[in-house]
Amino acid sequence: MSSVTSREWRFRSRPVGEPKPSDFELATVESAEPGDGQVQVRNLWMTVDPYMRGRMNEVKSYAPGFELGQAMTGGAVGEVIASRDPGYKPGDLVSSMAGWREAFTAAPAAVGMNKLPAANLPPQAFLGVAGMPGLTAYVGLLKIGEPKPGETVFVSGAAGAVGSIVCQIAKIKGCRVVASAGGKDKVAWLKGIGVDEVIDYKAIEPGPQALSKALRAAAPNGVDVYFDNVGGDHLTAAIDCSNPFARMPICGMISIYNATRPQPGPYNMALIVGRQLKIQGFLVFSHYDMQPAFLKDMGAWISAGKIKYEETVMNGIEKAPDAFLALFSGGNTGKMLVKLS
Ligand SMILES: NC(=O)c1ccc[n+]([C@@H]2O[C@H](COP(=O)([O-])OP(=O)(O)OC[C@H]3O[C@@H](n4cnc5c(N)ncnc54)[C@H](OP(=O)(O)O)[C@@H]3O)[C@@H](O)[C@H]2O)c1
Repeated sequence: MSSVTSREWRFRSRPVGEPKPSDFELATVESAEPGDGQVQVRNLWMTVDPYMRGRMNEVKSYAPGFELGQAMTGGAVGEVIASRDPGYKPGDLVSSMAGWREAFTAAPAAVGMNKLPAANLPPQAFLGVAGMPGLTAYVGLLKIGEPKPGETVFVSGAAGAVGSIVCQIAKIKGCRVVASAGGKDKVAWLKGIGVDEVIDYKAIEPGPQALSKALRAAAPNGVDVYFDNVGGDHLTAAIDCSNPFARMPICGMISIYNATRPQPGPYNMALIVGRQLKIQGFLVFSHYDMQPAFLKDMGAWISAGKIKYEETVMNGIEKAPDAFLALFSGGNTGKMLVKLS
């Protein structure tokens, strides 16, 4: 056992609007030999996720914010290289919230460490399709959206980590799936994984009217479930085209995460009453009771070829801020990941 040199990203300044590379600072540190009850881990992969943008703001949220000058945190998978905790041994593959760094030494509970479940999947899948984003798709669609065979499900942000899994679970459940994503390549990829209709929202006029028109054409029988990853115009269009008793799991609103002033809500909210819509926000963290069922179903779906997953990979810890920033300009198809070693 010995100390290990590691690089880590620290939070340098709070962004106003879109984050910039200068909001992050790369530091070199020593990851000490583990003390009693500690484990030393070399991270193999780390994830960047849209929710991290909210943690850069100085406002109270459901999760503690990043602290200026401190190392960033987030999901990672790695390999134990030394351990003085009887529950872990060198070679174990683990997940933790000690991302944004190459190596670390910590008590497992302090960093939310868990051994990766035994499954025939590469370790980074536990940051995407078999991890938090996959569970988010599963919970949001099945528990909140309650899709029924034959219904139409509309998914925004559909070519991303969560959205692409929502689309495929909806297909498995016998639904007609209409998706929205930005750009021709994403449209083609979504069609390739079985989505019935795809709207390239970047190819139409900005604003809710054009989006509503495109959605009405793609979903002539109306929308029964809207899985919202984007908010803004997408939510307005989904309300416009909703059927009575439609369900809308509100997973995220990435279109407004970088807004510098309060954003207006949809102008057509009166329809919520007349059509008896159920619009419900949810956080995956409140639904980890569904993880065992999710892992069982997802493992079976992947093995049967019913769920396909894509990864966009940037290489090296240096790239972590670039990978994070690219989420806001659509630089990823499927899960955005950083490969660390
Ligand atoms: N509630 C929860 O517990 C929970 C958990 C995980 C994630 N989420 C939320 O779920 C959503 C998706 O997360 P993810 O991890 O799967 O990210 P992701 O979809 O893999 O990546 C973000 C995508 O958002 C799209 N986007 C960015 N800015 C946009 C804009 N202004 N308008 C429309 N689309 C935009 C981009 O795709 P295009 O190229 O198509 O624009 C980009 O690729 C986010 O809102 C996130 O906050 C919520």
